[in-house]
Amino acid sequence: MTQRFVALVPAAGSGSRFGGPSPKQYLQLSGRPLMWHTLRTLASVPAIDRVVVVLSPSDEWFDDFEWDIPGLEVLRVGGATRAQTVASGLANLGLGARDWVLVHDAARCCLSVAAVERLIAEVADDEVGGLLAVPVPDTVKRSDAGGRVSSTLARSGLWLAQTPQMFRAGLLTDSLSGRLDESVTDEASAIERMGLRPRLVEGDAANFKVTWPRDLTLARAILDARKGG
Ligand code: C5P
Repeated sequence: MTQRFVALVPAAGSGSRFGGPSPKQYLQLSGRPLMWHTLRTLASVPAIDRVVVVLSPSDEWFDDFEWDIPGLEVLRVGGATRAQTVASGLANLGLGARDWVLVHDAARCCLSVAAVERLIAEVADDEVGGLLAVPVPDTVKRSDAGGRVSSTLARSGLWLAQTPQMFRAGLLTDSLSGRLDESVTDEASAIERMGLRPRLVEGDAANFKVTWPRDLTLARAILDARKGG
């Protein structure tokens, strides 16, 4: 049976940490909305059959821009949390249980085609699924309420989770059903709650999530360098 690969981009967040008049996914970056770069990369991966973006039903920005990404599908069914946005997107896609879904943050606009292809190559035969991640390079401190170090964590074995996170549609839907507490901040943690262990596939630091205004300078530099070839 042929398996389909579907990229699902939850973009219903307000980007409260970033601030600003519109959500960060619509900021202009190298002449396009930030999220255009994200969607364009996913649409350029030959193995990916569908690219779907899930917006908030009250989104007022998407229609103001030209997207010109062939085949891009737009759903306006986002929810109050990322997990709800993903669950509601999945429910509207009509996928088979064994189709693969690659959930990717709208704000990781410097994703490369090569990283997605590495993820697909390493996970497509896996029974659980997996995600891009990078080993933590620095020593990690936990702070107390006063901004002082309360402890140092052993960094060996620690990874920073990125996206895409790639799971089969049936398993992902099951993992996101029912009540999810605030500790479920990515798809992998929902899968882990089922007692399963997603595969870690090494990504790269360029695939960071634009979170604070200062991140735009780095994102712009990476995108412009790629454009320049
Ligand atoms: O807020 P954070 O940066 O963790 O959001 C990660 C991704 O989840 C973003 O692409 C954001 O738009 C999306 N999201 C969503 N629905 C929400 C909250 C976040 O689609 N209710």
